[in-house]
Amino acid sequence: MTEQDFILLPYPNTLESGKITWESPSNIALVKYWGKKKDQIPENPSISFTLSNCKTITTLTFSKKKDTSNFEFDVYLDGEKKDDFKPKIQTFFERIEVYLPFLRNYKFKIETKNTFPHSSGIASSASGMSALALCLMSVEKQLIEKVVPSSAPDCYRDETSSSNEYFNQKASFLARLGSGSACRSIEGDLIVWGKTNSIEGSSNLFGVKYPYKIHDVFKAYQDTILLVDKGKKQVSSTVGHNLMHNHTYAKNRFQQAHDNLEKLKTILESGDLDGFIALIESEALTLHAMMMASMPYFILMKPNTLEIINKIWKFRQETGLHISFTLDAGANVHVLYPKNETSEILEFIKNELVAQCQNGHYICDQIGFGARLIKN
Ligand code: DP6
Repeated sequence: MTEQDFILLPYPNTLESGKITWESPSNIALVKYWGKKKDQIPENPSISFTLSNCKTITTLTFSKKKDTSNFEFDVYLDGEKKDDFKPKIQTFFERIEVYLPFLRNYKFKIETKNTFPHSSGIASSASGMSALALCLMSVEKQLIEKVVPSSAPDCYRDETSSSNEYFNQKASFLARLGSGSACRSIEGDLIVWGKTNSIEGSSNLFGVKYPYKIHDVFKAYQDTILLVDKGKKQVSSTVGHNLMHNHTYAKNRFQQAHDNLEKLKTILESGDLDGFIALIESEALTLHAMMMASMPYFILMKPNTLEIINKIWKFRQETGLHISFTLDAGANVHVLYPKNETSEILEFIKNELVAQCQNGHYICDQIGFGARLIKN
């Protein structure tokens, strides 16, 4: 697939108005995306677990307008108008307009809510941008449904088979243009984004389902998110990505991500939990090492982040249980473990780690299977 494959014109149908709701989950990267080129093309491949409970629910209401000189939209979070969200969505619309040429023809109302507290320090950009991309895809679907334009790929002519594949691919492609990691939130349970030789079908343009065998131990993997710091980050991901340009270690880091994906293939197939733990913890710490070695340099971990990491290592050594951690671009800790060890590990989290969380807050989540259309 190339960018051109995502342009379907002309639209055969007209549509006056409508309302669509999608829910879309967050995801947590195992091999991290950190560094990007123009047009949201990642510098290296990444892979993530799609989550289940942490999600955004977005309702898009649209009605036709005459004046097509501008995009027109309003954004609401939990029923409250949010003008500070508008610049990000304006940029998103500008980037995707060529692929969704109807955007200027409608006035949109975007109503969104998260299942996790919005001041939790959990990034809502992956779930939020993917939910919005899916709503917009549903509008396009209505514009081309029944009568298929000659420029549409064959899959659009076969509702039963691969049309869903095209829909999901384009939704992921669009979500990527809103926020890179959002392209990994459309489907589950393991999603790869970024071209790499070891994963057939991988693409820089959209996320794909991990295509190889996965050992049962990695199905239903658990993620308990410890909310160490619920404040706004001092350095946004977008700024952090840009600091990878001319970064002393960039070239090696990008190569390491390719190598780690290759290694992960064997680990996922064999169920090698020790290999898995070593790989994902190294990825998390490398991500933060890149931040610390940027110019200007910055640190997003907090003292409690380190406290939790040290306690996890000690507990793992003492018990032999397969508890591990990963981090996103912030201070919160994702504690990952296999489902069959849940009772002992959750007990440990409650007794030992929750004290390091802001107001004792944490979220229990697990691997999920992607976004869902709620109402069309
Ligand atoms: C550390 O997707 O939030 O979570 O593309 O600028 O929106 P933008 O960045 P974003 O970056 C996420 C980085 C990460 C690692 C990952 O999810 O792979």
